[in-house]
Amino acid sequence: LKKLFRAHAKQARPVKQAAVLGAGIMGGGISYTSALRGVPVRMKDIQPTQLELGSKEALKQLARQVKAGRLTQDKANAVMASITPQLDFAGFNEVDVVIEAIVENISIKRRVLAEVEEVTNKDAVIASNTSSLRIDDMAQALRRPQNFVGMHFFNPVPVMSLVEVIKGSATSEEVVSTAVGYAVAMGKTPIVVKDCPGFLVNRILTAYVRAFMELVAEGVDYLLIDHVMEEFGWPMGPAYLEDVVGMDTGSHVSDVISAGYPERMPPLARDALRLMVEHERYGQKNGIGFYRYE
Ligand code: CAA
Ligand code: NAD
Repeated sequence: LKKLFRAHAKQARPVKQAAVLGAGIMGGGISYTSALRGVPVRMKDIQPTQLELGSKEALKQLARQVKAGRLTQDKANAVMASITPQLDFAGFNEVDVVIEAIVENISIKRRVLAEVEEVTNKDAVIASNTSSLRIDDMAQALRRPQNFVGMHFFNPVPVMSLVEVIKGSATSEEVVSTAVGYAVAMGKTPIVVKDCPGFLVNRILTAYVRAFMELVAEGVDYLLIDHVMEEFGWPMGPAYLEDVVGMDTGSHVSDVISAGYPERMPPLARDALRLMVEHERYGQKNGIGFYRYE
């Protein structure tokens, strides 16, 4: 890996300032992690309450670092001051990288990415944290697809080390290297993967979640499945995992994979994730999913 990083480092563009679109589960975590590692971030959302949520989460994480003796209070204050919550595109013309972390919907992403391209400089890298959508499908909306790349972080961002870097057919090598370099600067382990629905990890994870939904449709209690998977040695079972991910996101990912691999993973007749979304049980993000949260 070190060899790979060195090769990328030669052509990576410097990342001194970044912006993140979306202050939700992922955008909040990416903003915090970037700031903690020394790259200031403009954290943009369209909802003030989400900006508050993203800032509150960063404060909570920083307080934990101070308590554990890993950061001084002064340093924590400086990190917090380097996250700028905002509702507009102010300062986007000065950032080196923008990471989009909004809803997993191709038409919304296309529209918003095209807007971002209008307000950033011509060398800025635009990255999407999409879980499953093809980079080439989103790149169609852009005038500079060579600057567009996938940077797929995992949840919870501060803890999970993997980042999938996805090269679209038009993405330049320099832009791939910049994404790799920025991920390394954030303390992550990037891997460069092929541009296909679900990339590498979510092709595997979706097969697992689909098997879970099939078992539930056969009448197996999801509490039992979670319990069994924990006894098996995994940190959490699939129902709890979907609560962490967010049912809306999980359901979008499952749909993208079904559309992408219709023969191997056709739509499920009884789709537990869709049912949960229909009942507004989104998981931890709104306090109720397969489980309830205070
Ligand atoms: N945010 C920030 N830090 C967190 C955290 C969170 N949500 N949860 C735990 N941590 C930190 C703890 O504070 C602790 O840090 P320190 O060691 O610095 O004190 C450390 O992580 C370990 O914490 P715990 O011992 O309490 O937690 P754990 O043993 O449960 O491990 C975990 C935490 C590694 C996140 C574990 O729960 C895990 O592996 N979860 C599965 C997560 C997973 O599978 N994510 C993938 C989701 S799918 C996805 O992201 C892709 C997609 O496109 C949908
Ligand atoms: P989320 O619902 O927690 O947050 C999305 C945020 O985007 C919300 O705060 C929303 O207000 C904001 N938003 C919507 N439109 C916007 C716009 N035009 N400009 C700025 N902000 C806007 O969602 P999330 O779980 O953080 O997922 C975001 C992306 O990350 C999705 O593409 C998802 O597939 C991907 N992802 C999610 C996970 C996960 O486990 N949740 C893991 C990896 C990748």
